[in-house]
Amino acid sequence: MKMQFSRILILFLVAFAFSSFPFSAYGEDEVVVSEKMALLEIKKSFIDPFGILLSWKSDNSSYCSWYGVSCNANSSRVSELRIRGNSTNANKLVGNLSHAVAYLEELRVLSLPFHDLTGEIPVQLWELQNLEVVDVQGNAIQGDFSSYNFTRLRKLRVLNLGFNRIVGRFPPSLAKCRCLSVLNLAGNGVNDVIPGFIGGFDKLKVLNLSFNRLIGRVPVNFGVKCRDLEHLDLSFNFLQGEIPRVLGKCSHLRTVLLSSNAFSGVIPSELGGLRKLEVLLLNNNTFTGEIPSSLENLTSLHVCNILFNNLSFSSDNKMIRRCSFLGNSFLSVTPRMSLALAPPMSQQSNESQSVAAPPQGSDQSRNDKRGLTALDIAVAVSVALVFVAALAVLVALCKNGKKKPSNPRIEALISPEVSDITIFNDVGVVLTYEKIVQATRHFSWSYCIGTGGFGSTYRAEISSELTLAVKRLLTERCQGAIQFEAEIQTLGTISHPNLITLIGYYTSYTDMFLVYNFLPGGNLEKYIHERANRVFNYKVLHKIALDIGLAISFLHDQCDPRIIHRDVKPSNILLDNELNAYLSDFGLSRIMGRGTSSTTSVAGTFGYVAPEYALTSRVSDKADVYSYGVVLLELLSDKQALDPSFSVYEDGFNIVSWANMMLRDDKIEDIFYTSLWEPDSKEKLKDMLHLALKCTADLPNRPRMIQVVEQLKNLEPDSVP
Ligand SMILES: *[C@@H]1O[C@H](CO)[C@@H](O)[C@H](O)[C@H]1NC(C)=O
Ligand SMILES: *[C@@H]1O[C@H](CO)[C@@H](O)[C@H](O)[C@H]1NC(C)=O
Ligand SMILES: *[C@@H]1O[C@H](CO)[C@@H](O)[C@H](O)[C@H]1NC(C)=O
Ligand SMILES: *[C@@H]1O[C@H](CO)[C@@H](O)[C@H](O)[C@H]1NC(C)=O
Ligand SMILES: *[C@@H]1O[C@H](CO)[C@@H](O)[C@H](O)[C@H]1NC(C)=O
Ligand SMILES: *[C@@H]1O[C@H](CO)[C@@H](O)[C@H](O)[C@H]1NC(C)=O
Ligand SMILES: *[C@@H]1O[C@H](CO)[C@@H](O)[C@H](O)[C@H]1NC(C)=O
Ligand SMILES: *[C@@H]1O[C@H](CO)[C@@H](O)[C@H](O)[C@H]1NC(C)=O
Ligand SMILES: *[C@@H]1O[C@H](CO)[C@@H](O)[C@H](O)[C@H]1NC(C)=O
Ligand SMILES: *[C@@H]1O[C@H](CO)[C@@H](O)[C@H](O)[C@H]1NC(C)=O
Repeated sequence: MKMQFSRILILFLVAFAFSSFPFSAYGEDEVVVSEKMALLEIKKSFIDPFGILLSWKSDNSSYCSWYGVSCNANSSRVSELRIRGNSTNANKLVGNLSHAVAYLEELRVLSLPFHDLTGEIPVQLWELQNLEVVDVQGNAIQGDFSSYNFTRLRKLRVLNLGFNRIVGRFPPSLAKCRCLSVLNLAGNGVNDVIPGFIGGFDKLKVLNLSFNRLIGRVPVNFGVKCRDLEHLDLSFNFLQGEIPRVLGKCSHLRTVLLSSNAFSGVIPSELGGLRKLEVLLLNNNTFTGEIPSSLENLTSLHVCNILFNNLSFSSDNKMIRRCSFLGNSFLSVTPRMSLALAPPMSQQSNESQSVAAPPQGSDQSRNDKRGLTALDIAVAVSVALVFVAALAVLVALCKNGKKKPSNPRIEALISPEVSDITIFNDVGVVLTYEKIVQATRHFSWSYCIGTGGFGSTYRAEISSELTLAVKRLLTERCQGAIQFEAEIQTLGTISHPNLITLIGYYTSYTDMFLVYNFLPGGNLEKYIHERANRVFNYKVLHKIALDIGLAISFLHDQCDPRIIHRDVKPSNILLDNELNAYLSDFGLSRIMGRGTSSTTSVAGTFGYVAPEYALTSRVSDKADVYSYGVVLLELLSDKQALDPSFSVYEDGFNIVSWANMMLRDDKIEDIFYTSLWEPDSKEKLKDMLHLALKCTADLPNRPRMIQVVEQLKNLEPDSVP
């Protein structure tokens, strides 16, 4: 209703503006009039020095045959507006795109590339929910990308905004355009991290984000859903970190351009799986290590540039010859060498750009003579590049170790990325990302207090009074930011005296960490290791066993949703100075649905994983009971879960088999750790051993954790005066 009214109002206003408009339109369908009006309004906002729109006349109502206009046959509504300009021969439109375009309600294609359009894209455009193609490449359009609202554009297939003056960050609503097959933002000023949702666009064929100001890492899910991806161009940005290995799964990739960023790490050998790869440009980054020999298998690869990195080559690496079309044979002369970052050489840039052009011809044309000339050029260019490289090496050798300072521009760009930490439990100080980074000295090794399957934990000295523990998650283990946030929100509400306290968390596309209270007593693994120097008696044993039992029982029976820990082991049990024990790392594997067992890959630690879980990946709360039993056996005895002394037995022999064997052989006394075996605790120790063996029994016989706790309570140490 409202829409109809505003349509009529606009119609009226537009008609009014065109006072010369012949009102013979009377009788014509109102819709038709308004489509025509909208087109004329669009024309009006252009300066058309070359008469491209001469056929757009107010006295000609066959607007469906106007230049560049197509209509839906059934409704006479404009469906396409395609006018290609040409900035070289100056055959182009100048001016702004009128917001009247939004009255072409059935518009599917808006294609106005290579004109001289200025101003902003009218916001009303984003309301046209039939849009499939928006191509305004090569204009001078300004605007803040983050202000574009793509919420309604569910059908968008092509978004080509390349080479305009669009700045700002990615709009979150772009995530709705799940049908995108071409996303080209090249040559703008987008300054943001690459949002993770782009990795979820499973129809994407071309992704070109080159020549922007992108920072951060490539999202780790990049490559998970890339069945169709053929051209990937992230070159000339400020991206860092490693290339995600999953990229090797994008089997249709033909072009991978990552030049001129700050990428580091090794070149993943998985790229050797990209059988269709034709162009691979990794030059001007800081990759290290060897060129993976798996790239030898890339039979289609014909342009490969790896210059200006910190790669090393061994003479037997055939890849050097594979890339030798670029003249890298030069390098194989030296048995082993490293290409340092070279000082600037001015001719270099346009040469490597000419290499950067994606291949035009088909496979056939590459093999015939015309193809060879292209190859010759490539060889010539590459020889030049290698020459420059060789020079660079010389220069580098002469300058001897003068290190290139890290790019201050990158640093300047990264700092606005800082976002605050979501806090669940106040610690009396405002925590920020920067504070944590400082307090861990940039997550330095000397502050690392433990490493586990989910990442490393660091001591963060916030102030002289406050020390926290920060678990920096290996982002590859995370399911995706949204799910992560949902699960972490749940964890933030969980509180128990024997669970480590989650103080808050931080998440961005480049970094994720959890902030916990810091426990000065270290972990139980360390404690067991050092217990010879401590007081370790039945009372201590019982306290630790009960504390952990209570924690697990709480997770199993009192949390909603119930939580299976999946990785109960001594290094996940922390102690304070009073030997109170706290379970950590809970809920990180996955939050379990109500009551049912669930199937995922095994997330435990060898030696503690219940046999049925290791074999079938099916996990239930009984898997935690098993791991708990193993920990209990470790506390009771002087053996580790997989003690080195077990190597004389068959494969798979572990502390459980050992304890059962000792029991069978009637050597029960030899099981116990010496300082425990005291007269008034013997009976209770034996009971506790039997409890541990019940916990580690085959699946149907294991008690539930709540039953374990009940039995432990019956084994309280006698109060010693
Ligand atoms: C209207 O313009 C179209 C396209 O230029 C032309 O083919 C047609 O003959 C014109 N109709 C009238 C009535 O002038
Ligand atoms: C008219 O045709 C187009 C395709 O040409 C279609 O998308 C649209 O639904 C049709 N409209 C009606 C009213 O039939
Ligand atoms: C522009 O016109 C020239 C010839 O005048 C042509 O060679 C070139 O391909 C055109 N460019 C585009 C983008 O259409
Ligand atoms: C139209 O373009 C001019 C620059 O050519 C700009 O100043 C103006 O804001 C634009 N108008 C709109 C409505 O975008
Ligand atoms: C985008 O548009 C949708 C629907 O038109 C609206 O609900 C949403 O609030 C808009 N988002 C922004 C950021 O403007
Ligand atoms: C991305 O855009 C740049 C600039 O137009 C172009 O040189 C490059 O070939 C494009 N990359 C791909 C993969 O199409
Ligand atoms: C090349 O591919 C073959 C067949 O898939 C494989 O056996 C071989 O290991 C690959 N070579 C390298 C160096 O990865
Ligand atoms: C290059 O690698 C060498 C040894 O692997 C290392 O010492 C040097 O710091 C690296 N240079 C850069 C710029 O990464
Ligand atoms: C690559 O790095 C070299 C050395 O710093 C520089 O001379 C060259 O211009 C760079 N090339 C590109 C394409 O950025
Ligand atoms: C290379 O770039 C320089 C300026 O950076 C320019 O003067 C020169 O014409 C370019 N050469 C080629 C071959 O494009």
